[in-house]
Amino acid sequence: MVRGSWRRSPIASRRRCSAVRALRTASVMLDLTGPQRPWPAALVSAFGDSQANALRTQGAWGPPRPGGDVRLINRLVELFDVPTDRVCITSGVRGFAAAWADSSRTMLVEAPGFTPLPAILGASGKIRRGDWNELFTVAEEAEKRLSLWLTSPGRNPDGRSMSTAESTRLRALARKGHHVVVNQVYRWHAAELPSSIHVWTVNSLSKVSGGGSRLGWATFPPDATLPVALTQSGPATIWQRTWADFLSPATWQTLLRQCVEPTTEARLAFVERLRENLGWYPDGAGDGVSVLLRVDGISESQMVERFRAESLRVSPGASFDAPHPSVRIAFSGVSAEQADRAAECVTRFASSLPSLTPDYPASRGC
Ligand SMILES: Cc1ncc(COP(=O)(O)O)c(C=O)c1O
Repeated sequence: MVRGSWRRSPIASRRRCSAVRALRTASVMLDLTGPQRPWPAALVSAFGDSQANALRTQGAWGPPRPGGDVRLINRLVELFDVPTDRVCITSGVRGFAAAWADSSRTMLVEAPGFTPLPAILGASGKIRRGDWNELFTVAEEAEKRLSLWLTSPGRNPDGRSMSTAESTRLRALARKGHHVVVNQVYRWHAAELPSSIHVWTVNSLSKVSGGGSRLGWATFPPDATLPVALTQSGPATIWQRTWADFLSPATWQTLLRQCVEPTTEARLAFVERLRENLGWYPDGAGDGVSVLLRVDGISESQMVERFRAESLRVSPGASFDAPHPSVRIAFSGVSAEQADRAAECVTRFASSLPSLTPDYPASRGC
C-alpha cells in the first residue's frame, strides 16, 4: 500500500501536488552517487599525529618490505584476524588487480561491477564478462585453468552477496585449480563474511576511510605463489606505518561508527520504506552501499534526469555495466531521513509509467 495517498477532491489534490512539487524543487539536492563521508575532526588530528610518529621510525623513507610492513600486518592480525602467513599488503583493490592479473589465463570477471577492474584485468590478458552463474558454469566446464573474479559480500552496484550454494561452487572451482579472487571491499557494509581459506581475498580501506586511501591487503590460499609484482608494489613505508600507528580498536570503531554505520542506516531506511510502500525487498535488505533499480519505458539517462528534477542525483546503470537500463542509488552521502525522502520519490516513480523495479536477486546470500 502506497503511503501518503490522499482521499480528497481532485482540485484540492492537484493544488497540494503542485505545492509539494514546488517544495521538492526548492529542497536541497541529495547526492546518491556515492560520495565519501567526511572524517570526524578527532580522527583527522589523530591521523596527523600518527604520521608524525611514523616519520620518526627508523627507515621510514626506505623501500617497503616485500609483502608488507610488519607493524601494519600485526595491526591487521589484531583487528581483523588476518592469517599472518597468508597476507600481503596492497595499495587497494585496483593495485592488487594490476599486479595479480595473469596473462597466461583467461579471466572470468563479473558483470555488473566496478568498471575500472575489468579494464585493469583485461589490459594484461583475455577476459570474459558474465553473471556469476554463467562464469561458474564456464569454469566448471573448462579444460584449462582459468581465473575468476567476483565481489561479495554486497557487491557494487546491486548489493548482492554470494549464497551458501554459490560459495560452495566457488570453493570447488578453487580446489579444481582455478585462481579465484573474492573482492571484499564492501565487507564492512555486510551482515556476514564467509570463510575464505581456498580463495584469494582482496580487501581495502577504500569504503571506510575514502576512495583515495590506497591501502588494503590480500589473503591467499596456503599453496599460492605470489606474483613478484604484487609483493614488490606495496604502498610507501611511511604510509603503511602511519596506518599501523593510527589503527587501533578505538580509531577503527570510530571510523565504523562515523563513516560506515550511517550508510547502512540510510540503506535500511530506504529498503524498509519501499518494503512498506511497495512490498519490495521481501527477503531482506541486502548488503553493500547501493541498490540497483531497473528502468522501463524510458532510457536510463532520461530516468537520471527525472531524479535530478526531484533534486536527487543518481548514477546510470551503464557506469557499472548493468545488464538492463537501470539507475544506481548509493547511500554513503545521505542520512536515513534523506534516504527515506529518496524512497518516497522512487515510490512515486514506480507507481507510474515509465517505471522502476528493484533489480535484486531472489534470495539473500551471506
Ligand atoms: C567493487 C569495487 N572494488 C574496488 C573499489 C575501489 O577499491 P580501491 O580504491 O581499493 O581500488 C570499488 C569502488 O571504489 C568497488 O566498487
